Amino acid sequence: MIHQKQMLHHFKFSTTVYVFFCFTLIITIITTQAATDLSFIQSYCPNTNTFSSNTTYQTNLNKLLSILSSNSTNKNGFYYTTVGANNPVNTVYGAFLCRGDRTQKECKDCVSAASNQIPQKCPKAKESVIWLAECMIRYSNVSFFNVAAEVPVLALMNTGTVMEQNRFMQLLADTMNAAAVEAVNGGGDKKFGTKVANFSSFQTLYTLAQCTPDLSNSGCEKCLKIATNYIPSCCSGKQGARVLIPSCNIRYELYPFYHELNVPAPDEPRPNPQGKKSRNSVVLIVAIVAPIVIILLLTLFVCWIISKMKRIKFNSVPQESGMV
Ligand SMILES: *[C@@H]1O[C@H](CO)[C@@H](O)[C@H](O)[C@H]1NC(C)=O
Ligand SMILES: *[C@@H]1O[C@H](CO)[C@@H](O)[C@H](O)[C@H]1NC(C)=O
Ligand SMILES: *[C@@H]1O[C@H](CO)[C@@H](O)[C@H](O)[C@H]1NC(C)=O
Repeated sequence: MIHQKQMLHHFKFSTTVYVFFCFTLIITIITTQAATDLSFIQSYCPNTNTFSSNTTYQTNLNKLLSILSSNSTNKNGFYYTTVGANNPVNTVYGAFLCRGDRTQKECKDCVSAASNQIPQKCPKAKESVIWLAECMIRYSNVSFFNVAAEVPVLALMNTGTVMEQNRFMQLLADTMNAAAVEAVNGGGDKKFGTKVANFSSFQTLYTLAQCTPDLSNSGCEKCLKIATNYIPSCCSGKQGARVLIPSCNIRYELYPFYHELNVPAPDEPRPNPQGKKSRNSVVLIVAIVAPIVIILLLTLFVCWIISKMKRIKFNSVPQESGMV
């Protein structure tokens, strides 16, 4: 009997630890969800152009990545620099670009995450580009400032498809062109544009176009044309897609994936007038809360299953050893 009581006590203790562990896990998941999206999207590093370890090029590259990280609060979200200019063979040219709607802090977090990830994604590459959800880092042994790089063209798409595909693709082309025009001519120190259109009474299309601000207007226009023209072949009828080119990128979704223009970033007080904005923030809240609730329920379910398994295991021990 004493033996059984001890087992029971032990079971209760481990359940407490278990529940505590589960709640910690849930809190961690929620915090991660709420944080800025630093997820890796794509990298490009041709393996024909490599350096050997312990070379000056590697030293210069490491220096470049740390300079990019420490200048990532630059106010237009773009920074270009050179390391080792005194020795042309080992010069590294590099830049970062943050998505135009990012705050300085969001940009800084993204650039430092990208500079940590790029040596792992592209070890020994003399030139690389890495795209995270909200920023890009690019470096090369060849200068690329003021040059429109139109290759490679990488596309990623949302697997969901839309109804009325022809009408959608036409609306997408028109809206994306308008965003591109805004990015080219928008003025300011960013080449960034967004445009919204109503597809149906319950579906709103959000588009975004951005060039690195070192490009000329015509260089930016040409790059964005390549990107937009790519959509029908890669992503026809899809609910969302990105086209990534080193000098420019575009993206569209059926949900608001960027901070709306003229609306303060979430860390500033947000006025909430009637009408479309509040409708959009409801959509945004649903988009954020729904996955959290689902993950929470899933985690609780898994915890419940495991605790059930534990209960069975603990009950069976006294039966085998003492009760027979
Ligand atoms: C860059 O690296 C490639 C491959 O190692 C080399 O062929 C090319 O000459 C280099 N360019 C410059 C400007 O150093
Ligand atoms: C690079 O340098 C480090 C320290 O100087 C040394 O331990 C390592 O073996 C070197 N690696 C190569 C490939 O030469
Ligand atoms: C979308 O529809 C809403 C109301 O249905 C309207 O207020 C808004 O101006 C429309 N947006 C665009 C971009 O046409």
